[in-house]
Amino acid sequence: MKHELVIASNNRHKIEEMNSLLGSSFLLKSLAEIGCYEELPETQASIAGNSLQKAQYVYDHYGVACFADDSGLEVEALQGEPGVHSAYYAGPQRSADDNIRLLLEKLNRQSNRKAQFKTIITLVEPEGVQSFEGIVPGTILTEKRGTGGFGYDPVFLPDGETKTFAEMIMEEKNRISHRARALQKLADYLQSTYGS
Ligand code: IMP
Repeated sequence: MKHELVIASNNRHKIEEMNSLLGSSFLLKSLAEIGCYEELPETQASIAGNSLQKAQYVYDHYGVACFADDSGLEVEALQGEPGVHSAYYAGPQRSADDNIRLLLEKLNRQSNRKAQFKTIITLVEPEGVQSFEGIVPGTILTEKRGTGGFGYDPVFLPDGETKTFAEMIMEEKNRISHRARALQKLADYLQSTYGS
């Protein structure tokens, strides 16, 4: 029998990526497939907190094992900002251009430009709660490069790479991204615990 679990997302790309990592012994359901159409709460003060809150909400309200992800950019010289506020750093309009502008302003003349993208995936199941972390270390450039990706991608140069996330094709970014790294850890755990 297939092991069933819900991915707290309706994003087809995320679901396909996870399905291909997990293989055929798992049945992954989207939020729509369990009839969950409400917006999941994300009111916690950390990336880890939001990831747990979303997965716990689905588990408590729908009684199914679920995992949720939450991500953000953490900049060393800004004490981990924008972190949990990454999506709306420059305001509620959630504009990537505005967010990048504010970030570059705050880092103006700053020599320490170290940053990392972080994803936390939290799995809530009857057996308990577990988290999986994916990190990509890198540097914040002084101006944008590239047109692909989203969010802070044009100013993020991953360590050991010559292209920003926005200069990579999607497959290249997806191979090394924070989300992919966290997903891989979750997939390894699920395979070793429930895989056939
Ligand atoms: P989410 O939790 O995946 O929705 O990410 C929250 C916010 O973090 C996004 O709105 C972006 O501002 C930023 N972010 C997360 N992942 C990435 C990425 O891969 N590239 C650029 N920005 C990202």
